[in-house]
Amino acid sequence: MTEKVCVVRTNLWIDPVFDELLTGHDHIELRIIDVKASAQEWYDTLKHAHYYHVSAAKDELPAGLFVTEALLNHCPRLKGVSSSGAGYDTIDVAACQARQITVVNQAGGNANSVAEMALGLLLAVSRKIVESDRVLVAQHASSREALMGHEVAGKTLGLIGIGHIGRRFAQIATALGMNVLAYDPYLTSQDIDERQAQPVSLDTLLAQADIVSLHCPLNNDTRNMFNADRFRAMKPGAIFISTARGGIHNEADLHAALNSGHLAGAGLDVWRQEPPAADNPLLGHPGVVATFHTAGVSHEGRHNVARMAAGQILLMAEGKTPPHVVTS
Ligand code: NAI
Repeated sequence: MTEKVCVVRTNLWIDPVFDELLTGHDHIELRIIDVKASAQEWYDTLKHAHYYHVSAAKDELPAGLFVTEALLNHCPRLKGVSSSGAGYDTIDVAACQARQITVVNQAGGNANSVAEMALGLLLAVSRKIVESDRVLVAQHASSREALMGHEVAGKTLGLIGIGHIGRRFAQIATALGMNVLAYDPYLTSQDIDERQAQPVSLDTLLAQADIVSLHCPLNNDTRNMFNADRFRAMKPGAIFISTARGGIHNEADLHAALNSGHLAGAGLDVWRQEPPAADNPLLGHPGVVATFHTAGVSHEGRHNVARMAAGQILLMAEGKTPPHVVTS
């Protein structure tokens, strides 16, 4: 009898389509780890794993279940690691590469959800929708003019990174009558043109954009990229949006740029620590609209990434190359 292919996932919420697709195949065996179990129980399951599907959200997964050198020592059969999202902060890609373990992500699966959330944050900040709600709930309404915001049509949107999500946001923004600039050092000018944006340098983008929106990964090049100098280089009255990753923008520097009045507002879905501490000064700031890493967490986004992940695992199990390989 041929050995079954063992897929391990945690019991964190996942759209049911993941299990349905995998368990529909006789040669696949699905095992589920309880994130609250002991490390020894995790390892007892992981020692069987050929493929490990792991959450991409660093603060919802116990650190002991991150794909690290230490965890890999307990996974002698592992051939592939599947990140639940587009990011893969919970996976030591170099350690996997060294052991020839394939890493896949689900890039693009929730791109539309994230782009729509970036637009939602932009409109909420620009038209003071959340601020208006807070004022009404507290019954402190003074005048409508005190809550006068700006239209986005005719404004310039600057995208930092124009991959799956940036590209979708560029389409949406173009449809709304915005001018779209993009800075992406890994794409050619022609690629960026084809994605409905004007390719520019980072300095030009910061000098010209009315709204700057981050759509690049967190890595050694982008960590702390948006610091006091970069906020200072943005236009007075500009809006900052991030649905990318906490750590790319410096929260204290952003707070200072908002408090000084240099920036008009910020829409933030991602945080250095998630969820942010209740006393994080950005929370409740009148110019800030805050969400909790939910940009990709729509019913459609979660369904798409779960379906995509199961499909990629099935391809790997058949010895085929899946479409979204981070390293192999
Ligand atoms: P992607 O890989 O398709 O696109 C990322 C783009 O960023 C690429 O075109 C790349 O060339 C560019 N890039 C890399 N380094 C850069 C730099 N230093 N400056 C400017 N651009 C740079 O990824 P996708 O799917 O568009 O996702 C983007 C990011 O969004 C992910 O890395 C992830 O961190 C975040 N994300 C957040 C979610 C949420 O729920 N808030 C959900 C999904 C993704």
